[in-house]
Amino acid sequence: MGVRLGILSTAAINDLILPAAQAAGIPVVAVASRDAARAEMYAAAHGITRGHGSYQALLDDPEVDLVYISAPNSQHVEWTLRAIAAGKHVLVEKPFTRSVEEARAAAAAAEAAGVLLSEAFMWRHHPQTRALVNLVRDGVIGRVQLVRASFAFELEGLRGADDTRFDPALDGGSLMDVGCYCLSAIRLIAGEPERVHAERRVGRSGVDLTLAATLRMPGDVIGQFDCGFATPHRDELEVVGSEGSLYVDDPWHARKPGIEVRAADGARSVVEIPTEDSYRLQLENMAAAIAGTEPLRVDTADLLCQARALEAVHRAAVEGATVVPPPVG
Ligand SMILES: NC(=O)c1ccc[n+]([C@@H]2O[C@H](COP(=O)([O-])OP(=O)(O)OC[C@H]3O[C@@H](n4cnc5c(N)ncnc54)[C@H](OP(=O)(O)O)[C@@H]3O)[C@@H](O)[C@H]2O)c1
Repeated sequence: MGVRLGILSTAAINDLILPAAQAAGIPVVAVASRDAARAEMYAAAHGITRGHGSYQALLDDPEVDLVYISAPNSQHVEWTLRAIAAGKHVLVEKPFTRSVEEARAAAAAAEAAGVLLSEAFMWRHHPQTRALVNLVRDGVIGRVQLVRASFAFELEGLRGADDTRFDPALDGGSLMDVGCYCLSAIRLIAGEPERVHAERRVGRSGVDLTLAATLRMPGDVIGQFDCGFATPHRDELEVVGSEGSLYVDDPWHARKPGIEVRAADGARSVVEIPTEDSYRLQLENMAAAIAGTEPLRVDTADLLCQARALEAVHRAAVEGATVVPPPVG
């Protein structure tokens, strides 16, 4: 029998996961909400077999093999640990945590329980991301010197001032929400940061509205990114090498995929990339990994290193200090 999915919370992001599960042929057998009536209404509206009135009830459901956690950021670790304790595989929304200690505990718990745990960085599953890695590896731009990324948008106009991402108690802020993608990209291309500098602007609610960081990466490479909640939409990723650069205009959602190769002589060409649903590819990879037919593309080693980098950038920005993250591993 194939994997059966249970969804923990009625978050807006589920609107992208539900059709992706359908396209992947993965049945969504249950959804949970903190509110029983909301769970039932949500289940009925989305053709989901059961609505549970508590998150724990979803974890106790014997027909759920894989739990997708889309609760607010501050609850990711707790519900992941509980899901692992219930013997479930877990796909948890980004960012999993900005605590190395918590990431290490979750990775160890998953290994001990013999279940899979993956952080839902859907952008890592898109063919555009794989093509970028291959172009760098093939030396198309020579020796990498700089990886530069941005992800920002105007949150208040889009979702209102009471959005969970403005709440420090729920681990809101632009670094946690969108800067984490930039870090995920810099790490994918250049490895794990050795030293981190960062600055942030904090809004009325106490979370970062704008954050910019510079990272010393292995092999004499510099990583640089900015993220925010207070500007018009911006997203881009550029890998700059000794013989040119690779520019991705839509790196995270890849709605209009394509990689521009900017050569040393000024010539520009585009590597065409097919349109794909990253959320479907993410679920298919998780299901295949559970079946033992594919490696997990975003595994616990990655989740741990992501937490290490996120913790260092957060600390650097809050303390206004240069941060040297702890050794990897
Ligand atoms: N990968 C992506 O493309 C992507 C895109 C957007 C968001 N995300 C991630 O997905 C997660 C959810 O984001 P979202 O914007 O979709 O969330 P959202 O719409 O604000 O919903 C969050 C859900 O969490 C539950 N919840 C539990 N405790 C809560 C609390 N104290 N306050 C408010 N809600 C609470 C609620 O469900 P119940 O009331 O039913 O329990 C609520 O529907 C975040 O971690 C975010 O980073 C990922």
